[in-house]
Amino acid sequence: MSVLARARVQVLAGNVANQIAAGEVVERPASVVKELVENGLDAGARAIRVELEDGGKTLIRVSDDGAGMDRDDAQLALQRHATSKIRTATDLIGVATFGFRGEALPAIASVSRFELETCGEGEDATRLRVTGGKLDAVEDSVRQRGTTVTVRGLFYNTPARRKFLRATATETRAAVEALTVLALTRPDVAFSLTSDGRVLLDCPPAARLIDRAQALWGGELADTLLAVSHRAGPLEVSGLVQRPAQARPAGRKGYVFVRGRPIRDPFILRAAEAGYRSTIAPGDRPSLLLFLDLPGDAVDVNVHPSKLEARFRDKFFVEKVVGEAVREALAPLEAAAPLGGVGFQVSGAWFQREGSASAVAGVPLELFRAESLTPDTRHQTPLLQVFDTYILFQTDSGVAIVDQHSAHERVLYEDVMRQLSGDGAPAQRLLLPLTLDFAPSGRSIVVHTAPNPHPRFEAARCLQELVSDLAGGRFGGWQNRLERFAATYACRAAIKAGQTLDVGEMRQLIVRLLTATLPAHDVHGRPSMVQLPKEELERRFGRT
Ligand SMILES: Nc1ncnc2c1ncn2[C@@H]1O[C@H](COP(=O)(O)OP(=O)(O)OP(=O)(O)O)[C@@H](O)[C@H]1O
Ligand SMILES: [Mg+2]
Repeated sequence: MSVLARARVQVLAGNVANQIAAGEVVERPASVVKELVENGLDAGARAIRVELEDGGKTLIRVSDDGAGMDRDDAQLALQRHATSKIRTATDLIGVATFGFRGEALPAIASVSRFELETCGEGEDATRLRVTGGKLDAVEDSVRQRGTTVTVRGLFYNTPARRKFLRATATETRAAVEALTVLALTRPDVAFSLTSDGRVLLDCPPAARLIDRAQALWGGELADTLLAVSHRAGPLEVSGLVQRPAQARPAGRKGYVFVRGRPIRDPFILRAAEAGYRSTIAPGDRPSLLLFLDLPGDAVDVNVHPSKLEARFRDKFFVEKVVGEAVREALAPLEAAAPLGGVGFQVSGAWFQREGSASAVAGVPLELFRAESLTPDTRHQTPLLQVFDTYILFQTDSGVAIVDQHSAHERVLYEDVMRQLSGDGAPAQRLLLPLTLDFAPSGRSIVVHTAPNPHPRFEAARCLQELVSDLAGGRFGGWQNRLERFAATYACRAAIKAGQTLDVGEMRQLIVRLLTATLPAHDVHGRPSMVQLPKEELERRFGRT
């Protein structure tokens, strides 16, 4: 048995407790940026400025134009558990401010040379100076309404922690990311970040999330994003999700916000990706900005030391609804990739697109209905096949261009999924049964009936390709076996490119495509349809 000297139990001195708390709250300059910017937002700021030197290792300064504090409050704010944001534990339910613990300022001040300058409306300004948690000075100051916190020499008095700081570029990147996340929560607030004098972020106040996304990442990404807006019971899902065809395996933006707070939740991101099922290639990761709004008592935001997680009362419900929301966003034809902005943009005010990603194209479906097919052709939308591969037609807001193979693939995929889940598959009895031999076992199978997706369908060849695809692991990334089968079949059975179609065939295909659930996306993560918005034509020909 080991003999340890028995130590006396003692309450830690306040500053030691602060430093320990700092271990949880302040990990690196980015965490300081996060806490100070959150405080600015909680104080009602309209503009927040962040300055970094040496990735924040030398200096972090956050200035806001919020409500500020009077001298007493400023001094109190530096004490642990001092907060203006909640009074009782029940206030935590549905808390609407970022802060509620009263931890951040004392924690940061205990591990840095800290200066806080603040001024409330119509009050005198105050400057406080704290070194390693010890209050050095309380002085008069002169400034406008708002608060500026300057943090120098982060972790100067805890060398073990300072050692863990990374290269300047890495810390800068983390701080930019911390600000980016918060900038997404409040498009209406202006944010900027400079690093060693260089402006890295500059976001003017914006009306819409898409404008904020554009300010943060540029139009190229913003143009690929579609709006999500879906409600189910108490849960509202909104935000932006990327068009399937523009999803890539790397570099996606994935953000989840719950009641306006950023959280990390890989399960919600995965649930959203599940909503993309059958529209993206396995391995592709669409960008996702998801805002979940639900009543305060349906979620607990106080389960993580830096509030990066939330606990839902009914997680399964939340995930299910997120998946539905994504699917709903991908369903309309507006989700088709626009053949305008992206990769097509001509600079100059004339051709500038107006913020929002896609032109709205509703296709007047009645022009395609089967009954109008035969007797009266006057009101039918003309269809044009070009290169024996693409079908062009006019919509009420532009020109749609459909890839006949991709479109047919989407249609067949949805048919097969429906049939597999109960409807049964219509099949044609073959006059002459087919006998197919399969290597290497040498087994033969005899086929008596086969589907008949189009007149040029070759059943034997399709079955052989299907078996070899499935054996060879095509669509191997797809988890669901039925979906894998349906996608493989659809891909092999669909009309090929290079096939001449008559008007009846084209019309039938377009009718079926436009009544599909996700008409604009094929099963490989490519578009089945692109649109040339009318405004784009008008712009190009100088009609606007
Ligand atoms: N930029 C600011 N403008 C106005 N008041 C501020 C500002 N920063 C802090 N305060 C005041 O100081 C208090 C303490 O701030 P601190 O960040 O330490 O705690 P908190 O925000 O209440 O909770 P949390 O620790 O969860 O962030 C706040 O409750 C607020 O009243
Ligand atoms: Mg705070």
